[in-house]
Amino acid sequence: MSVYTIKVFLVNSDQEAAKSLIEVLSNVEDIEIVGDSRMSESALAMLPELLPNVVIIDDDLPGGAYSLAEEITQKFVNMAVIILANPPIDQAFRDALQAGARDVIGKPFNPPDLVDAIYGAYEYEKKRRVLLPSKTIEEARKRKAKVITVFSGKGGVGKTTIAVNLAATLAKKYEARTVLWDLDLHHGIVAVATNIVQRRHIADLLNEIQYLDADLLESYLERHESGLMVLPAPFTPEFADFVSAEHVTKILSVARENWDYVIIDCPSFFHEPAVAAMKQSDLIMLVGSLDMGTIKNLKACLMIMDKLNFSRARLRLVVNRVGREFGVFLKDIEATLKMPVFATIPADANSVLTGLNQGVPPVFSHPNSDFGRGIQMLAEKVFDRVEIEEEQKKKKKVSGFGLFNFMK
Ligand SMILES: Nc1ncnc2c1ncn2[C@@H]1O[C@H](COP(=O)(O)OP(=O)(O)OP(=O)(O)O)[C@@H](O)[C@H]1O
Ligand SMILES: [Mg+2]
Repeated sequence: MSVYTIKVFLVNSDQEAAKSLIEVLSNVEDIEIVGDSRMSESALAMLPELLPNVVIIDDDLPGGAYSLAEEITQKFVNMAVIILANPPIDQAFRDALQAGARDVIGKPFNPPDLVDAIYGAYEYEKKRRVLLPSKTIEEARKRKAKVITVFSGKGGVGKTTIAVNLAATLAKKYEARTVLWDLDLHHGIVAVATNIVQRRHIADLLNEIQYLDADLLESYLERHESGLMVLPAPFTPEFADFVSAEHVTKILSVARENWDYVIIDCPSFFHEPAVAAMKQSDLIMLVGSLDMGTIKNLKACLMIMDKLNFSRARLRLVVNRVGREFGVFLKDIEATLKMPVFATIPADANSVLTGLNQGVPPVFSHPNSDFGRGIQMLAEKVFDRVEIEEEQKKKKKVSGFGLFNFMK
């Protein structure tokens, strides 16, 4: 099975016909029926929530299949419409073309033809999406972003490496509209790690923050070749202090509404902008490693987070540079911090440094390396949202006491 599932929505006034369509399509690999409707009005009400890739409309629809097709193709620019048409098929083709539909299948339909038409329409829309100006896509995909902050109380533990590679994977492999924000305002290196040329200055953005909308924000984002959009740290550290918690809140409110993911790389201390970002994050990736110093630091971090009333349910422990173990094991960090390990990233200096020095995220330069696979697994967990289930399973296993009771 491929990474992508083609989401299909059916509009068919005849219940029995809809049932037989569902039967045919529900066994096809990579196709998922996300909903169906008997009428135009209910279809239009359901589409913004379900966001299917392909809508199949039967032309017996009262009120008109072609006017519904036209409304869908105008309102939802990256949905493809296929018409199931009664003969004469030539006339149906002309009407469908005018309504902006992608394909017409004559009734009674031949299942392989319909499946081919779905794949074809999906592939076409995928290509077209790349060429569309982003504002149009943005209007079509009003999905809430998932805001994910990457943080640690320890410097040099791999926050930036994880943030860059996770964000780039979400953008490229999952085609998610992703912003990577370098909130390590004094010493951020995201621009270097992604090899982008920084044209605009976040300090200027702050001057026009009262006018901030998706277009203005996008004009400050640099596009990485993976499709990732990067908001770099200030050119020089003296501008770092200009960024306030209020600025972070405003920028996140716009980004959240207009992108799928916002990944935020943080410094290793609790400055106000980072705290504001974490407060508004759906997930906080707490990055650690298997050494006593880092574990002690993370313990202190958790105490501060508790005082700031951060919900532990949003925290995910990511252990980086896992490899040869020197007396500290994953079960120890889990027991000491009283949280399950969400993901591990192997130690793999060769891939990480070679990628970094080439300005290519190592997950792309070395996709089959230990590091590349670790990042891809992390992205898969984030993307598929399987984390909730996993977390519940793991919680049961974590015992309350571990090796490092002195830290509790
Ligand atoms: N899984 C890994 N395997 C090998 N080396 C790694 C790994 N992850 C990160 N590194 C290396 O560790 C160093 C620190 O990584 P990184 O800059 O991502 O940490 P950081 O937590 O963001 O640091 P800072 O606190 O300075 O912002 C870098 O040289 C990076 O290449
Ligand atoms: Mg960093």
